Amino acid sequence: MVFDILTIFPDFFGTPLQEGIIRRALEDGKIQVGIHNIRDYALDRHHMTDDRPFGGGEGMVMKPEPLAECLKTVLAGDETSRVIMLSPKGPRFSQQVAQRLAVSPRLVFICGRYEGVDERFRDKYVDEELSIGDYVLTGGELAALVVIDAVSRLLPGVLGCEDSAVNDSFSCGLLKHAQYTRPRIFEGTAVPEVLLSGDHAAIARYRLVETVKLTLERRPELLLDVSFTPAEQKILKKEGLLGRIETIVREYRTERSSAG
Ligand SMILES: C[S@@+](CC[C@H](N)C(=O)[O-])C[C@H]1O[C@@H](n2cnc3c(N)ncnc32)[C@H](O)[C@@H]1O
Repeated sequence: MVFDILTIFPDFFGTPLQEGIIRRALEDGKIQVGIHNIRDYALDRHHMTDDRPFGGGEGMVMKPEPLAECLKTVLAGDETSRVIMLSPKGPRFSQQVAQRLAVSPRLVFICGRYEGVDERFRDKYVDEELSIGDYVLTGGELAALVVIDAVSRLLPGVLGCEDSAVNDSFSCGLLKHAQYTRPRIFEGTAVPEVLLSGDHAAIARYRLVETVKLTLERRPELLLDVSFTPAEQKILKKEGLLGRIETIVREYRTERSSAG
């Protein structure tokens, strides 16, 4: 997978791309990242990439021409790339979006700064906008890194099987159960006994129950889109969780339909 980043702060990406799994993915050629300085495509004497907003108002707006020139050079006619603009106004990035993007051959990220990007650039060149949450960052660089990180770990061979993405939170629609490692007792608190039992079926049952309890407690709305196998339903019924799930799902559905 190829990632390209268009930014006015190319140095921003040094360390985050040189650590851990992302660094290994780069070294192994599983991903490639191109960083392109928009300023190099600003043709005026001062290499201006921003200007005052028409109609007045605070701040500066990123000019469309340097962005368009930079993008055209990076794409070089390639029509398979997906151009993504990071923006607090875009649809929310999620694990599902990461899974969808992970099958693209190439993603090109436009990092805004200041008050954002001239709307005409967006209309003409951007395939989709993405927000990483309901807050405003100073620029799109951190958001691009978030998307690159989440997408990269879904690519074949990027994670070793010891840290496989299959059972992560959200991948199966629920929050992942708690994890423990040595020591067996930490400041007086022991690891749940079942995890030391070596009984794989009992451990799988325990983890299913913990996963569902955690999701019920913290993100019950996620249960709306999850279905359980008959064997799982039997376990959850025995634990008194199936009724709670059914009630919550019913409540959310009623809420949704009355909201129109
Ligand atoms: C200060 S923000 C601009 C905010 C804009 N004035 C508004 O109110 O929507 C500058 C840049 O940061 C990036 N950015 C800020 N918050 C973001 C978020 N939640 N998700 C993705 N990108 C974000 C975008 O690229 C944006 O163009």
